[in-house]
Amino acid sequence: MTLACRDEGISVRVQGDPSRAAGPVHSEGMDFEIAAATTDEDFAGAGALGARLVRFHHSLDAARFFLVEGLEEGYKRFLASHAKSEGVVILVARNKIDQQVIGYAYGQLEPRNWNELLDACGKLHDIYVDDSSRRSGVAQALLEALLNRMRALGAPRVVLLTAFANGPAQKLFTRAGFRKTMLEMTCELNQ
Ligand SMILES: CC(C)(COP(=O)(O)OP(=O)(O)OC[C@H]1O[C@@H](n2cnc3c(N)ncnc32)[C@H](O)[C@@H]1OP(=O)(O)O)[C@@H](O)C(=O)NCCC(=O)NCCS
Repeated sequence: MTLACRDEGISVRVQGDPSRAAGPVHSEGMDFEIAAATTDEDFAGAGALGARLVRFHHSLDAARFFLVEGLEEGYKRFLASHAKSEGVVILVARNKIDQQVIGYAYGQLEPRNWNELLDACGKLHDIYVDDSSRRSGVAQALLEALLNRMRALGAPRVVLLTAFANGPAQKLFTRAGFRKTMLEMTCELNQ
């Protein structure tokens, strides 16, 4: 099966089982490809970026967002083991020249959640692009591929949480069609 979607010069092609594979993506000015994470290098690259995502959130609000030891290795292990589960989508963006992982996105199908008043849907948990590759459409391409995969898996919608202070991410998501639906609030009890 082949799905193709074109938007503002970016093309995403998903070949074979849409829940498992994502083919090349081309963007103007930068040669990168989006693919399902499968290799040790993919998970190591995504794990290193995931560690940066954790540190970035901790820097925004150290009380709300934790920081633990061994982030790179722990994140790599977590993503690699999770990738085997049904309904989990882990995509990497690779530089086409040296195959370095320059971004990743991680989402999964989730069942109805009464606490959140949220029916079964897809959730986007992580998206991160290496600083040196930003503003080149990498996140947009990852997001588009992830939404296509979630749609192919039967998700009626995709829901995500993003930090209140994270303006750039909110711009990215709004541009991709997300609307604001919830506001998380935190109260510290030990200070
Ligand atoms: C947010 C992030 C993923 C964007 O990655 P990116 O590859 O640079 O994004 P893109 O180039 O695909 O940008 C697509 C659109 O998003 C918006 N956007 C992205 N970065 C932006 C920024 N720093 N400021 C304002 N708008 C931004 C713009 O509308 C942009 O389109 P444009 O470049 O044509 O104006 C990246 O900055 C990042 O990894 N940040 C740290 C991690 C993070 O915040 N993750 C999301 C929370 S889970």
